[in-house]
Amino acid sequence: MIIKPKVRGFVCVTAHPTGCAAHVQEWIDYVKAKGPIKPGPKKVLVIGASTGYGLASRITAAFGSGAATLGIFFERPSEEGRPATPGWYNSIAFTNAARAAGLYAKNIMGDAFTDEIKQQALNLIRADMGQVDLVIYSLAAPRRTHPRTGVVHKSCLKPVGAPYTNKTVDTDKGIVSEVTIEPAIEAEVADTAAVMGGEDWEMWMNALRDANLLAPGATSVAYSYIGPEVTWAIYKNGTIGLAKNDLERAGSSIDASLKALGGGRAFISVNKALVTQASSAIPVVPLYISILYKLMKARGTHEGCIEQMQRLFATQLYNGKSLTLDSGGRVRVDDLEMIPEIQAAVREIWPTVTTENLEQTTDIAGYRVEFLKNFGFGLAGVDYDAEVEPHVPMI
Ligand code: NAI
Repeated sequence: MIIKPKVRGFVCVTAHPTGCAAHVQEWIDYVKAKGPIKPGPKKVLVIGASTGYGLASRITAAFGSGAATLGIFFERPSEEGRPATPGWYNSIAFTNAARAAGLYAKNIMGDAFTDEIKQQALNLIRADMGQVDLVIYSLAAPRRTHPRTGVVHKSCLKPVGAPYTNKTVDTDKGIVSEVTIEPAIEAEVADTAAVMGGEDWEMWMNALRDANLLAPGATSVAYSYIGPEVTWAIYKNGTIGLAKNDLERAGSSIDASLKALGGGRAFISVNKALVTQASSAIPVVPLYISILYKLMKARGTHEGCIEQMQRLFATQLYNGKSLTLDSGGRVRVDDLEMIPEIQAAVREIWPTVTTENLEQTTDIAGYRVEFLKNFGFGLAGVDYDAEVEPHVPMI
């Protein structure tokens, strides 16, 4: 079939297999061009490995350090002529490239919150890898069925305590409008923490530890975001931010457990705001990202997922020295986003943005390019008028 982008609100319901493979290759090329990260990780489990920060982490580990990787993700295959989700194609492309480079790469497709998927991962690690020395936890999920209670928790992106009104942009239509989001009720706060908080990360780490599948000195990292005041009501102080506080709580307890196991460590890396499937769904944030991109590109400091993760690995995780932590014990790779001049400029531009001047005041064009690239569209060298087979089996 010939596959074109079909954007519906903040998602694109189609994805291009060849384009996704080209996107993955761009990221691989970037990591290779940056040179080896040594001594880097050797055996890596990535939970949430198919898109965004997780995929970038996997590519960095494999192509920066020659690591064997096991990727866990939850994607939809193609069905009845409908293309698969991008993470499906990305994972196949990554696995082919890794194996062609002589690297071990295997995948488990399924719900990472379940005991079955955890058990499958334990079995595969035991059989093929022995132990893992790095566990990346990079899930962004809309819901979680709790493995003990069977309760289905749904995450939501809402302010807490009071309604929140601010500007937002329909990135597809280019319309800037004001949005008011009603505050979450108590159950929604708890549900979001159950999905995006740290309990599942702890379950993974405990299962790996109890099965003796963590190498002495093993590291684990999960990702968070803090961002500027303009987004705090919807992010840092909203349902997702409170869930991230729980992720930090889990990080401390995992850190203690890994230290006890032989000098390991767990921490949170606070990453930059970027266009991914997860961030496009948050009201207000895409407008902020569009302004941020314009400012950071003008200063030559713009980074995407792969630049962020390559920097995290090379300058922090595997720098041969200790980590540089903020006062809350977190690694910050959002440092270039948060520098005062950039944030002062965001504050200046924010009130002036309208539907009419969106193209001039923000990098909405760059936002759209990156958004579509996440679905395999707009990649150089890909013939989007050519027939392509959407049904590709997972490997
Ligand atoms: P993403 O949407 O690109 O990736 C999410 C990954 O989770 C995919 O691999 C998906 O298959 C997997 N996944 C979702 N539900 C699953 C399930 N039930 N079982 C197995 N796999 C599942 O998200 P993104 O943006 O890369 O986010 C990853 C982490 O980074 C999140 O914790 C997010 O909060 C954090 N982060 C994101 C930022 C951004 O601007 N995008 C900024 C800073 C942190």
